[in-house]
Amino acid sequence: MQLMNAIKKRKSVKRFSNKKPNWRKVIRAIDAARFSPAAGNQFAMKFIMISDKETIQKLAEASQQEFVRDAHFVVVAVSDDSKLERSYAERASRYSRQQAGAAIQNFLLAAEEQGLATIWVGHFVEDQIKTILGIPEKMVVEAFFPIGHETAIKGSEARKPELENILYFGKWGNKKMEPETRITSRNA
Ligand SMILES: Cc1cc2nc3c(=O)[nH]c(=O)nc-3n(C[C@H](O)[C@H](O)[C@H](O)COP(=O)(O)O)c2cc1C
Repeated sequence: MQLMNAIKKRKSVKRFSNKKPNWRKVIRAIDAARFSPAAGNQFAMKFIMISDKETIQKLAEASQQEFVRDAHFVVVAVSDDSKLERSYAERASRYSRQQAGAAIQNFLLAAEEQGLATIWVGHFVEDQIKTILGIPEKMVVEAFFPIGHETAIKGSEARKPELENILYFGKWGNKKMEPETRITSRNA
């Protein structure tokens, strides 16, 4: 799949079919995460892949999001900020969140390429997740990702901002590129 295609096609899916994805595809998606940029090239994440139905049910409860229980796999993304704290002191937490986002986007795009359906779940009781999975206290649970195949009943696609509304040239607020050309999503 072409990169731009995967970027544009990726979307959040909450309805999963009964068909269980091949676990190798999930591993391939996780493998993509480790190629992301990281401050000082210190990759500080671990991923937990879960297929046990009872554990998935507990994760649904910890997030109070019913649809999670229908997932065939859940991938939990965890960061160890202490790794970065030694090098970057008070900037560590900012760097850790940023590089987690980069790694997660790699994972999401690779999942898309593998034909997997998933969604970023960021709302949950973190301590509950740590207890369920035995994650050490000092770790940060960034998010988790219920995985399956999309059902035939497709959800609506999220509206995205227009390019002209997110791009400035040269300084804050300037929407015109030199020479005086107004950039839109259509002529980019
Ligand atoms: C940091 C973050 C946290 C999110 N947490 C949740 C969540 O707890 N539950 C949920 O249903 N979706 C969650 N989402 C998914 C967003 O709702 C979704 O990405 C957004 O509506 C855009 O849709 P799209 O992913 O199809 O482009 C989260 C997304 C991000 C980036």
